[in-house]
Amino acid sequence: MNINGYTSLYGIVANPIRHSLSPFMHNYAFNRLGINSVYLAFEISPAELKPFIQSAKTLPIKGFNVSMPFKHDIIQYLDEISEEVKLTGACNTVKIENEKLIGISTDGEGFIQSLKSHNYTIKDQKFVVLGSGGAAKSIILSLARYGAKEICIYNRTYKDDFNQYSDLYHTDIQFNLLDNKEKLHTDLKDAYMLIQTTSVGMNKDECLIDESYLYDGLKVVDIIYKNEETLLLKMAKAKGLECHNGIGMLVYQGALSFKFWTDLDMPVNEIIEKIKEN
Ligand code: ATR
Repeated sequence: MNINGYTSLYGIVANPIRHSLSPFMHNYAFNRLGINSVYLAFEISPAELKPFIQSAKTLPIKGFNVSMPFKHDIIQYLDEISEEVKLTGACNTVKIENEKLIGISTDGEGFIQSLKSHNYTIKDQKFVVLGSGGAAKSIILSLARYGAKEICIYNRTYKDDFNQYSDLYHTDIQFNLLDNKEKLHTDLKDAYMLIQTTSVGMNKDECLIDESYLYDGLKVVDIIYKNEETLLLKMAKAKGLECHNGIGMLVYQGALSFKFWTDLDMPVNEIIEKIKEN
C-alpha cells in the first residue's frame, strides 16, 4: 500500500505500547484488504492525553485504540459512549466522525468470540475468574450477558461486588478474596472454565493456583499473550486439559475495532497464524 495524500491514520494510545501487536495486526489487515490507511503506536504521558485528543480531531485520524493506563481517563473526552463503556468504566476503541468521538469497548465481546471460535458455550455454564481489573470486568460483563449461570471471581484485594451486573443479567456473580483457597478449590471442582486475567505469569513462571486444583475436564484460558505459555497453561497442558492463551482475545477484540472503523472483516485466522509463526 502506497502512502499518499489520501491516507488515513489509526493508532493505539497507551504507555508503554512499543511492544504491542496491534500495529502489526491492523496494518496487515489494511494491506490485505487494500485500504489506504496506516496504524501507529502513540506512546504518550498522562499529561499528553488532552493535547492528543485535540490533535486527533485536526489530523486525519479516523480512530484509535486505547490501552493502559488510559482506558478510563479517555472517557471524559468522548462525545458518545456505548452501554458497555458505561458499565465497565473502560473504553478501548474510539471512532472519530465529524469531529465527534465515539467510544466502545471490544474486549469482552472479543473474548466471547475467541471462545466461540473454539466452539465453547457460555450459556448456563459456571466460570471461575482470577482477577477483577479492567480486562476482567469486560469479560465478566460479557459472560453474564451471554447467559453464564455462575461467575466466581477471585481477586487479591476487594474491588467491587459486581451486583450491578448480576441484577442486569440475572447471573449468580460472587466476589471472593484469593485467600479463600478452600472455596476456590470447591468452585473449580464443578466449573466449566477457569479464566486467568491477572498479570501474574506474564514476566515470571508464577501461578495463582495449585496444580491439584486443575480437575479433569476443566477448560483453562489465560488472557496473557506476551508469552505463549504461562505456568498455568503449562500445568494445564501437562494434565491434558484444553487450554488457550490470550492471542485469540487480542485478535478478536482488534477485529471488532477494525469492523467499527471500516465496516470490514479483519482476516482473523490469517493474523492468528502469522502471530504464532513469529
Ligand atoms: P487489566 O486491565 O490488565 O485487567 P488492571 O486493571 O491493572 O489490569 O488489573 C490487574 C489485575 O491483576 C487485578 O485484578 C490485580 O489485583 P488487585 O486488584 O488486587 O490489584 C491483579 N494482580 C496484579 N498483580 C497481582 C499479584 N501479584 N497477585 C494477585 N493478583 C494480582
